Amino acid sequence: MKFHLWAVALASALCVQANEWHAYYRLTGSAYQEKFDEMVSQGYRLNSVSGYERNSEANYAVIFEKRSTPAWKSHHGMTSDKYHQRFEDYRKEGYRVVQVNGYTVDGKDRYTAIWEKDSSIPWATRHGMSREWMQKYFDQYLKDGYRMTQVSGYEVGGETRFAAVWEQRNDTVPWVSVGELNSTAYQAAFDERVKEGYRLVDVDGYQAGGEVLYAAIWDKSPSGAWVARHGLDSPTFQAEFDKYRGQGYVLRTFNAYNDGKADRYAAIWVK
Ligand SMILES: *[C@@H]1O[C@H](CO)[C@@H](O)[C@H](O)[C@H]1NC(C)=O
Ligand SMILES: *[C@@H]1O[C@H](CO)[C@@H](O)[C@H](O)[C@H]1NC(C)=O
Repeated sequence: MKFHLWAVALASALCVQANEWHAYYRLTGSAYQEKFDEMVSQGYRLNSVSGYERNSEANYAVIFEKRSTPAWKSHHGMTSDKYHQRFEDYRKEGYRVVQVNGYTVDGKDRYTAIWEKDSSIPWATRHGMSREWMQKYFDQYLKDGYRMTQVSGYEVGGETRFAAVWEQRNDTVPWVSVGELNSTAYQAAFDERVKEGYRLVDVDGYQAGGEVLYAAIWDKSPSGAWVARHGLDSPTFQAEFDKYRGQGYVLRTFNAYNDGKADRYAAIWVK
């Protein structure tokens, strides 16, 4: 049985009984590796991994879910070269990228990614894109009928970079995406899209020139009740997490980023 990241989100969203899932954040590289090994040995699948900087080292925010899955792989803390090499190796083995997250630690770009063994759908991914290249690829893939399913912003040497994943599903689900919005502008775009009947399916915070900006994707795929938050500090995120978990929501998108040296969280929960 083949699963796709968003199809799974959708299927579970429409199920009354959600799978067992767990989320963790503020994990250092070694704590994350330990947690990863423990969860995988218990049959969990990694749904999402987001890197950021805390106390001058890489930290990770992650979601695991106990679900059936095609073969999958994930790595974190990769340099651009290492990621590219793994990308090529796995592509030859029939894996496709379902999530790629760029982040910056001590001024250097690092990558996390999740691959799935799946050849059922044409897909594309790029990383290290400047604003201009992001726009060029965005336009090109849009023209070719691809939908952007995930986007990640980060900063290298004072310049904004993007990583993103596209899928050519040939469905008629309308979708929209924005990037480069500050918190106020993002909230305004969010309110506008929601008024038009869209729901948020991906949100990503990143720093550019000392400012926190957001990139996001909305679509009109069917869904249960959902909620989204951004710009949360860790105690606020924890309070929201506990609240929504108590109400039966499942954390589907979990993005961690920096505001200066502080850690911030953006998330989407779906019932
Ligand atoms: C979508 O259409 C293109 C062009 O006809 C085709 O190459 C591709 O395989 C289709 N994708 C899926 C998921 O069916
Ligand atoms: C946010 O962005 C909007 C639109 O670009 C701009 O008008 C506004 O001044 C910005 N707000 C802050 C606090 O930077």
